[in-house]
Amino acid sequence: MRKSSVVRKTLINFKGHYSNSLINTDDCGVFNADVTHMALDSVYTKLKKQQWLHSTYELSPDANNYREIEEATQEALKRTLGLLMFLDSLQVNSLPVLNNAITHTGAKLCLTEQQSDEALHARAYQYIYASMFSEKERQEVSDYWRSLDALKARVLSASEWHESFYKQRHVMRGEDYLRIIFANLLLERVYFYNGFNFIYRLAQDGGFQSVKAIIKWINKDEILHTEVFVQLYNMLIKQYPSLLNSAVPMFEDMASKVLEAENKWSTFALVGVFEEFTNERLNTFTNFNINSLRRTLGFATKPVSNPFPLNDIVLGGSDNVLSGNNTRYEHSSLSSNTIADNDEPW
Ligand SMILES: [Fe+2]
Ligand SMILES: [Fe+2]
Repeated sequence: MRKSSVVRKTLINFKGHYSNSLINTDDCGVFNADVTHMALDSVYTKLKKQQWLHSTYELSPDANNYREIEEATQEALKRTLGLLMFLDSLQVNSLPVLNNAITHTGAKLCLTEQQSDEALHARAYQYIYASMFSEKERQEVSDYWRSLDALKARVLSASEWHESFYKQRHVMRGEDYLRIIFANLLLERVYFYNGFNFIYRLAQDGGFQSVKAIIKWINKDEILHTEVFVQLYNMLIKQYPSLLNSAVPMFEDMASKVLEAENKWSTFALVGVFEEFTNERLNTFTNFNINSLRRTLGFATKPVSNPFPLNDIVLGGSDNVLSGNNTRYEHSSLSSNTIADNDEPW
């Protein structure tokens, strides 16, 4: 593989070629009419079909529910929303940087659509803030990402790899692309899930049904975004097979950092809010989600069960789609059928 891959410096390159690979410094800058990666075309179709809007959900009953729950539960909801808002804001800002650094038409289509989804997610959290909180609370929660030390530590950890990619985007190696793809996979398939799980558990008591409906759409979108990044991983490994040697150690190193950061955060934000939300079970849930990602990527897994199997969380197909003996990069896929099978009518 080439030692370095330099992002193209011009918008249109008259001497360049149409790109069939994820990264190509000689790319002409015009979309290739050739569909060369059908899996991405399939994800793009699913992204376009999965359309929803936050404002179709009336939140005044949820605002009443909010006023009725205990202060500790209110605080857990505020902390959860504070992290979710940060993560989607990060994606809105960082995805164009990655999109600009890759050259495959199908990948660009998917990331452009994903960026629109992430903006809607951030808008939906704004909508929840505005509907549920007083002005004073709204301002307080909006600033949690930097005023609350535990959340500040969590967001610094969550954004570290994205910041690094952003700063060095003009001279990048294959490893840099691999790292940012893993960072996005961990974000899409792990970071959100303690928050989603908390909100689904909250709604099990009968309230917060509109918030739950919005979160369920976001959850389903994040599953598709995971699928996008699995395909980017497949393409990168196909283009640079030698990256497979560093893929597992890199992933495991990143996953261990994620596990530690997420455990600290969930302990601070969620332990004890519900009886079953113990330190051990929350940590096991994070481990379970990381393990699902391992399985999706075709990496060796560990025996971890979901400690919250009764919650409504949408887990996608990452736990049961891999059964063949293909090469690793061909292994990695999520099935839309499996997503539908795991989802309940709602
Ligand atoms: Fe999102
Ligand atoms: Fe996402």
